Amino acid sequence: MLSSERAAKAHAEEDFAQAVLEGLSRTRRSIPCRFFYDDAGSALFEAITRLQEYYPTRIETTLLEAHRAEIASLAGAGRVLVEFGSGSSRKTRLLLDALDDLAAYVPIDVNDTFLQEAASRLRARHDGFPILPLVADFMRTRALPTKVAGLPKLGFFSGSTIGNLSHTEASAFLSNAAHLLGPGGLFLVAVDLKKDLDILLPAYDDADGVTAAFNLNLLARINRELDGTFDLGRFAHEAVYNEAQGRVEIYVVSLAEQTVQICARSFSFARGERIHTENSHKYTVEAFQSLARSAKWKPIKAWTDAEDLFSLHLLRSA
Ligand code: AVJ
Repeated sequence: MLSSERAAKAHAEEDFAQAVLEGLSRTRRSIPCRFFYDDAGSALFEAITRLQEYYPTRIETTLLEAHRAEIASLAGAGRVLVEFGSGSSRKTRLLLDALDDLAAYVPIDVNDTFLQEAASRLRARHDGFPILPLVADFMRTRALPTKVAGLPKLGFFSGSTIGNLSHTEASAFLSNAAHLLGPGGLFLVAVDLKKDLDILLPAYDDADGVTAAFNLNLLARINRELDGTFDLGRFAHEAVYNEAQGRVEIYVVSLAEQTVQICARSFSFARGERIHTENSHKYTVEAFQSLARSAKWKPIKAWTDAEDLFSLHLLRSA
């Protein structure tokens, strides 16, 4: 390992340790959902996307397949495709293949390894086409590579990842993206919709327990990386819908009164005590459009499936 890679790894572990110790010291315990995605967690998320109950990935892919020609004609030729949080390579490929005369592709991701892998896969398919990966937190990206300055942009925010953000954070993210994508910039955003709980809740609590394993992997990761002593058999996965906030909330619940060590510190859990691990906000088409307008975007078109489960929004920078 290079010394720079070692430094990055040490920094990532420090960041994780600090977030866990701080989050578990609060009265309402929580751990930020970005820590789900270590190697094991990323593999489990991939498995989630293939579950029958997990409609978002399947429907977003169907919507992209059905409407990519129209998206390409609305975008016009010569744009730079900027992907916020890359990794969803199948959906990206659908867009890359549909768009005319793209000038370049700029995938943004915090994970350098994912980025390099995705970039080399694409380079093999699109010979000579400029792929300019940017290692950055897309919430805080302030500038794109200088090579694409002045070129028209098309942003892509896939997977309904925007659902992880509160409305305030989502609005700040959209404003920052408007700045980044520039005047006349377009933004294609995938947004999960409000729906009946008999469809929504199984997507976050599947019969095979894959989502449970994904959630509990956070405790396993603490055991692996932070000298944790979580007994995974004594915690359970829970998904609930918070009607007032319009979001699915994911928790890890303690099944017994117990004490756990993490980084040589003790944390006691009452039976039934919860650790909040994720929010997944759901929108109506209109509610998302008004959020976009508040961040200076003009909604151009929204596509939904026949059952109104999921939506794709094309926005233009106002
Ligand atoms: C990757 C944030 C879009 O909220 O549906 C899936 C993550 N969590 N099952 C989502 C997730 C539990 C997912 N996002």
